[in-house]
Amino acid sequence: DKWGGDWNRRLEFIRQLLSKMREAVGDYPICCRVAGDEFMEGGYTLDDFCKYIAPVMEESGCDMFDVTCGVFEHFTSVIPEMYEPRGVWSYMPEAIKKVVSVPVAGLGRINDGRLAVKMIEDGIFDIVGIGRGSVADPEFARKTLAGRYDDIRQCIACNNCFEDDLSNRPSRCAVNFEYDRDSEWEEERMLSTKKKQDILVAGGGPAGMEFARVATLRGHKVTICEKKDKLGGYLPLAANYPRLNTRELLNIIRWLKKEINSLGIKVEFQTEVTEDLIQERKPDAVVLATGSAEVIPDIPGINGPNVVTLDAYLSGKKTVGKRVVIIGGNYGAEVAVSLGREGKKMPEPGYKKYHLPFEKRVLQATNPEKVKEVTILESGPIVGWPPYSFIMRYIVINEALAEAGVQCLTQVSVKEITDGFVSYVGSDGKEATVPYDTLIVAVGRVAKRDLYRQLAGKVVPVWEIGDCTGPEKIRKAIHTANFAARQI
Ligand SMILES: Cc1cc2nc3c(=O)[nH]c(=O)nc-3n(C[C@H](O)[C@H](O)[C@H](O)COP(=O)(O)OP(=O)(O)OC[C@H]3O[C@@H](n4cnc5c(N)ncnc54)[C@H](O)[C@@H]3O)c2cc1C
Ligand SMILES: Cc1cc2nc3c(=O)[nH]c(=O)nc-3n(C[C@H](O)[C@H](O)[C@H](O)COP(=O)(O)O)c2cc1C
Ligand code: SF4
Repeated sequence: DKWGGDWNRRLEFIRQLLSKMREAVGDYPICCRVAGDEFMEGGYTLDDFCKYIAPVMEESGCDMFDVTCGVFEHFTSVIPEMYEPRGVWSYMPEAIKKVVSVPVAGLGRINDGRLAVKMIEDGIFDIVGIGRGSVADPEFARKTLAGRYDDIRQCIACNNCFEDDLSNRPSRCAVNFEYDRDSEWEEERMLSTKKKQDILVAGGGPAGMEFARVATLRGHKVTICEKKDKLGGYLPLAANYPRLNTRELLNIIRWLKKEINSLGIKVEFQTEVTEDLIQERKPDAVVLATGSAEVIPDIPGINGPNVVTLDAYLSGKKTVGKRVVIIGGNYGAEVAVSLGREGKKMPEPGYKKYHLPFEKRVLQATNPEKVKEVTILESGPIVGWPPYSFIMRYIVINEALAEAGVQCLTQVSVKEITDGFVSYVGSDGKEATVPYDTLIVAVGRVAKRDLYRQLAGKVVPVWEIGDCTGPEKIRKAIHTANFAARQI
């Protein structure tokens, strides 16, 4: 039809659209949100956009370009996951800026005020857009302009907010309890406590830290006792994959630490909360934020010499041999990707790979000596969906598993671990073995409720928050903590 064919014909739609818009709005500026690259077979590329589309849009009355990318058919590129680097899309607005004379805005994983300023100062683009960064901290722009970069509660790019949006649920931010709630939930409107209490928090993970922050703002006296020698709970481990970027998880810990310091909250390290300690200190209330523990399955040979748990691997306590078998493909998927990338060229950041056929996305070996053979044995039907994941991350991690050449065997039942071999019954019902040099156990986690069971009904009021109510994710830790701190 008249809208299809060569570029000239294809652009007729946008010409007419902009001309009608101009008629409707007069002098009012027209800002167009555009995909710099559709990243789709048969779609347009950045080169097409710069050569054909951008000039025609400018001629037809577009006063500003706001550049994103991707199309709904593979929406994982539209809102980049934490695995992608910060500012991952900036090369697109940068290229478009070179071919138009109107202002160009860029965005995408810019969650640090310093990076936002740098993009402008370096002339990469004219206006910097902050999407999720403003969800995580609505004061992002104000704090950036004031140079208060470290006061920003940075987005961790977990996409909890967007997944809610996709599912037609109220959108909730993992790190900002207030986001998308009625104004009565604003922290500034929070009521001070009528009765100041002396509260002991067991556990300095995200839940314990957020609780301490909010309860202190309400006027309580809070002490955090943490068994280990640092704050952050599980997150320093979860952020520790050598070849998969999950370091954004630490953003919320950095911010909470800063708040805890400035509020003068007392933190006692290497202090395990026990029933005796509570009897001795006699607080008015105890808040348990004790997190979760690894599940160790009852499989013959599980205590063998080359069997390590995921936590032990992430703590850097164990080295890993060439052939790695991972039992548990949900908690184990990220470690599988990280190990599967060893000795290989890292994937190019961003989504240019979508222009390539899948065979070309498979990572090439650069150091064959270091390449690992990684196999996942998973009892369920899928891999890559631990309780902290969502559909977008599931899709992205499964692509990464395939690129990294990880062999994923699902619906298998592991029977025995011997020296160098794992025996299992496969999805076809047949027995088989797979050799290993290192076996990583990542089957799941269980809430740590021992202390609760000991204390319930015996001592002062006891509250539970975060993963010790069931292992899940940061959002649950922050939200259960914030909610409890508003009630206590
Ligand atoms: C491999 C892995 C990757 C993950 N990745 C993500 C992710 O990408 N996104 C996400 O949202 N979530 C992720 N999670 C989940 C996330 O780590 C947890 O949901 C979150 O840390 C829970 O916070 P918490 O404060 O409740 O517990 P934790 O973070 O577990 O903290 C509990 C703290 O309590 C301390 N403690 C325990 N008992 C006592 C005691 N008796 N006295 C004093 N201190 C005590 C512990 O030492 C610990 O510091 C991941 C989890 C795993 C296992
Ligand atoms: C909850 C949520 C809803 C969004 N809705 C839209 C939308 O309706 N239209 C759109 O073009 N982009 C939408 N986006 C994408 C953002 O505008 C932005 O392009 C993207 O999040 C990348 O920028 P960021 O890394 O700064 O968040 C949405 C993003 C989020 C997180
Ligand atoms: S939910 Fe996650 S991705 Fe969305 S704004 Fe909050 S921290 Fe960022």
